Amino acid sequence: MNHDLGSIATALVAKGKGILAADETVPTLTKRFDALGIQSTEQSRRTYREMLFVGAAEFISGVIMYDETIRQKSSGGVPLAQLLSDQEILPGIKVDTGAKPLAGSSDEKITEGLDGLRDRLSEYRGMGACFAKWRAVIRIADGLPSTACVSANAHALGRYAALCQEQHLVPIVEPEVLMDGSHTIERCEEVTGVVLHAVFQALFEQRVVLEHMLLKPNMVIAGEACSRPAKVQEVAVATLRCLRRHVPAAVPGIVFLSGGQDDRTATTHLNAINRLPGPKPWKISFSYGRALQDPALTAWHGRDENLKLGQQALYHRARCNGAASLGTYTDQMEAVSAGG
Ligand code: 13P
Repeated sequence: MNHDLGSIATALVAKGKGILAADETVPTLTKRFDALGIQSTEQSRRTYREMLFVGAAEFISGVIMYDETIRQKSSGGVPLAQLLSDQEILPGIKVDTGAKPLAGSSDEKITEGLDGLRDRLSEYRGMGACFAKWRAVIRIADGLPSTACVSANAHALGRYAALCQEQHLVPIVEPEVLMDGSHTIERCEEVTGVVLHAVFQALFEQRVVLEHMLLKPNMVIAGEACSRPAKVQEVAVATLRCLRRHVPAAVPGIVFLSGGQDDRTATTHLNAINRLPGPKPWKISFSYGRALQDPALTAWHGRDENLKLGQQALYHRARCNGAASLGTYTDQMEAVSAGG
């Protein structure tokens, strides 16, 4: 495997492939397990992650892990990062330490984790990580986001990305404008544009090499409580317009987060974006968490006898999203493999 940063960034958006985000923190994964009555232990989380990491390499270029996972070994005693690289899947790691309340505000958050980051990146690189992820969250509401929230988060993303490149890791830069709220798609487009503008300004100031990173943005979409949900074509047009206006052509790839969209909607939107005519200077693919994992988690349900079903469910979603990254996804693909 070629380990220069440009090759890693382009390998992550190889034709027909995308990223599996499996980097939920222990409390977040425990919440997802609780909802299905699955006990969350170090062992059950390992079993679940190992299930996800085997069998979808055809459509998965990289996996984002959480600190606990990158330190774990498979049931066969192989470090999970190696289990991935043995299948030519690039191991990645979430390196932020979470979104905390922004000073003086109860409604907005700043992502922390810069202190000591250089040493942590170096350790993760020694454990086999090739890329990293840092997520900033921006909330839309009356009068929000504030300039303070956007600029503080953009600055942190810039410093994180620069440190990653210094430590020979490809940064995935994730500014997420949340779907929570009743805002319109127009408002989402406006805010996403402001945020991307601030983020690329910060990346420029911190001398981040754009060819050696990926952007992980939200799609431009109406808030989940908006009285006028946007149609698929509207989402595709607004998303691509916003990205064209704000993302430099030097960035090799844009990999969307799913952000709470259900699995098929996330696939349909990605496909519609890739089918739009006109210039797309970057690869456009996925880095989904819930939209890839949810059917697999439900199929597995914490039971060993369902491991195969869980893997089949992930394979199916990865295959559909792989096709959507090429604009060749169809409804029939859902029917054909619905039975596994
Ligand atoms: P979702 O696709 O579930 O939004 O997760 C992606 C992710 O990595 C969030 O940081």
